[in-house]
Formats: sequence, structure tokens, C-alpha cells
Amino acid sequence: MFNKVESRLLLSNLAVLSSILVVFALAVYALFVQSLAAQFDERVILFAQAVSASIESENGKPQFKESIYLGSSQERIVLGETAIAQWFDLQGHRLLSRGGLPLEARGLQPGTLLTHDQPVSVRLYSQIVRDLETRKALGYVQVGLALAPMQSMIHRLAWGLAGGVTLALLLAAIGSLWLTRQAMIPIRSGYRRLQQFTADASHELRSPLTAIKLNASSAMRHSEDLSVDEIRDSFQQIQDAANDMTRLTEDLLMLARTDEDSGMPNSREILSLDSLLDTIVEQMRSVAQQKLIRLHYRAEAYPKVLADPDQLKRLFRNLIENAIQYTPPSGEVKILLQEQEHNALISVQDTGIGIAPENLTRVFDRFWRADRARTRCSGGMGLGLAIALGIVRAHGGEMNLSSKVNQGSSFVVRLLTHK
Ligand SMILES: Nc1ncnc2c1ncn2[C@@H]1O[C@H](COP(=O)(O)OP(=O)(O)O)[C@@H](O)[C@H]1O
Ligand SMILES: [Mg+2]
Repeated sequence: MFNKVESRLLLSNLAVLSSILVVFALAVYALFVQSLAAQFDERVILFAQAVSASIESENGKPQFKESIYLGSSQERIVLGETAIAQWFDLQGHRLLSRGGLPLEARGLQPGTLLTHDQPVSVRLYSQIVRDLETRKALGYVQVGLALAPMQSMIHRLAWGLAGGVTLALLLAAIGSLWLTRQAMIPIRSGYRRLQQFTADASHELRSPLTAIKLNASSAMRHSEDLSVDEIRDSFQQIQDAANDMTRLTEDLLMLARTDEDSGMPNSREILSLDSLLDTIVEQMRSVAQQKLIRLHYRAEAYPKVLADPDQLKRLFRNLIENAIQYTPPSGEVKILLQEQEHNALISVQDTGIGIAPENLTRVFDRFWRADRARTRCSGGMGLGLAIALGIVRAHGGEMNLSSKVNQGSSFVVRLLTHK
């Protein structure tokens, strides 16, 4: 699937790039050819003027000079292979021709430019020559310049451009290939994570579903032989499994909601962290007492934050629940609220089993548990910290974890305070 996407991405990249390159090259070519042709025409006209001005009379017969200076420039054109000049009388009879191949009298319409193709391409221009004093028309001068030098220049340009475009396309192909590969890396890994996540979620849903099915079918099949207590027990197990599933689906929904790209709305309010933490700690107190764990809460500051109250409650409940859950009886859990440079710092510290260094980042992964078998019984499905981190990130904050095995862990949440 990804290979197809990759090659399609690459091909469309290349198609766009090559169209841009080709259009660009064609535009450069057209502009260049046009300006070259215009320059050439100007040159032919200048040449005609220069030839007309340089006609000499020898015993009453007009004569061309052998080489002619163009305009005021120092450029000299020699009549010969690539430059010709002809002289016609007013009736259009050729009286004189010099240089190259004599062309038949044509295009004598003064002031017009035309291209003569046989035997070589020549650009022709005719102009009337007048007597300097009397302004009387004496005849026509027709000049021609071979187009070959310009054509070879255009050829070189065309080849140059074609070569350039090919080389650019080759480089673009290599570049695109690299870029596409690069772009696909996060997509591939995101997809893999999603696949893993779906597999894990289905796996977690399967066990309560199996429990429901087994209990329901055995209760139905043996309904006559079962005592009321046994039937109640079956229903109890069905209810427990349903509760598990409800909790899991709620967790999944919460995860989706905290996802940056989910686009799901959340309602932000200005909250006092102190009263929020106080409420949660009081709610958790009975759980802690059952495990003979001392639960302390202390506020050193009273920062306010702009946050979703349900999500923040969820965040701290998850952290405190973990602290109690992963601390053996007669341990201690301390919650501390502080403020530091527009940041509210909330730390949840326990004296529990701790987390091995290699697992410090993995604990935040979805469905990750240090001990799958054990925590399943105690109810955790490995989503608590993933949700907590999602909530912290959704609020623009950060969470740090430090832990020592068998000594305890400390989670510190940092949230921007509201002024
Ligand atoms: N305070 C803690 N002390 C030691 N280990 C912890 C603590 N909090 C989390 N963990 C480890 O991280 C794992 C993931 O935690 P969590 O996402 O809350 O999932 P759950 O609690 O459902 O197992 C836990 O299974 C546990 O191994
Ligand atoms: Mg947990």
C-alpha cells in the first residue's frame, strides 16, 4: 500500500516538476529566438543602409565596396559567403551583384524583410537609393545576410536547454525520491502505531467479551441446575466485563479527544488548581487508606490555569491512582502544587516499586504495562499514562518522570498559568 502511495507521490512530483521545467525552457527558448530574430533584422537593415551609403560610382557605374562598416560601430562586414549586396535599377533589372550566390530579383518592395531559403537561408532587405542632392531615386539596393550563424546559435541554445532540462529532471528525480522516502517515514511509522493500537484495543476488548459470552451461555444452558447465587455470580461477572468494556471505550474516546489532530472541541475554563487537586485527593483518600498508604497534599502557591476541568481531573486522577496502585502498603504518596515563572508545577511522588530506566519512556505508550498479567487483575489496561500525557500536551504543557526501582517515582506536570 505504501509503495503504491510512494510511487504515486514520486510520479506526481516529477510530473509537476518536469512540466514546470519544460514550460520554463520553452519560454526561455521562445524569448531568446524572438530577440535574436529582432536583432538580426535590425542588423540587416543597418547593413542595407551602410551598403547604400557606401556605393561608389566608377565611370558612371555604381560599385560596391568590398567591406562595409556597420552603422557607427567598428564592425565590418565583408561581402562574400555570408553577406551579399545587389543593385537594381528602377525597373528591377539587376545591374550588379556581389558576394555569395546571386539571387533573382525579388522582394524589391522597399522596406520589407523576407527570408530566401534556396540554396541557403538568407534574410533579405531592399531599400531605395536616392541621389544625395536631388533626392531622385537612382535604384534599389538589396542586401542579404546568411541566417546560418544565428541558426547555429539557436541550435546550440536548444541543445543546451534540452540538456539542462534533462539534467535538472534527473537531479529532480533523485531529489524527489529522497524527499518522498523522507516524507513516508513518519506516515509509515504512524500507520504502524495505529495498527498496533487497533490490535491492542481489540485484544483488550476480547477478554471481557469472552467473559460475557461464556457466562451468558453457561447460565442459559444450565439454568435449571443453577442456584440463585450461581446465577447472580454469572450476572456479576457479566456486569464486571461490561464495566471493563465501558472503561476501555471511555479511555479510547478520551485518547482520541486529546489527540492534537482530532479537532474535537473541549471546553476550557479558568480553574484554580488548588481546589481541583484538593477535591481529587479527597476522593482518592479512601482508596489510599484501604492500602494503608499515606496521602499528602500541599499547595505552596495557588495558580490558575485555563483548562478543560474534566480532562485535568482525569489527568491527576490517573497519576494519583498509579502512585497508589504501584506503591506497596504503608508507603507514601505526596502531591505538591507550586508556581514557577508563569508555570504551575504539580508533582505526584510515591515511594513505590519504581520504573526501570529502560521503561521510562515506554510507560507513556498506549497499552504498555510493566507486568501485563498482574495489572490486568488490578484493572489497569495501560492507557492511563498515555491519556495523562495526551491531556498535558493538549494543554500545551509537559510532563517529566523520574524514578528509581524500589524507591519510588515522581511525575511532574508543568502547565502554563492563566494571568
Ligand atoms: N507511579 C508508578 N510507579 C511505578 N510504575 C508505574 C507508575 N505509574 C505507571 N507505572 C507503570 O507504567 C505502566 C503504565 O501505566 P498506565 O498507563 O497508568 O497503565 P495502567 O496503570 O493501566 O497499567 C503501568 O502498568 C506500570 O507498570
Ligand atoms: Mg494507571
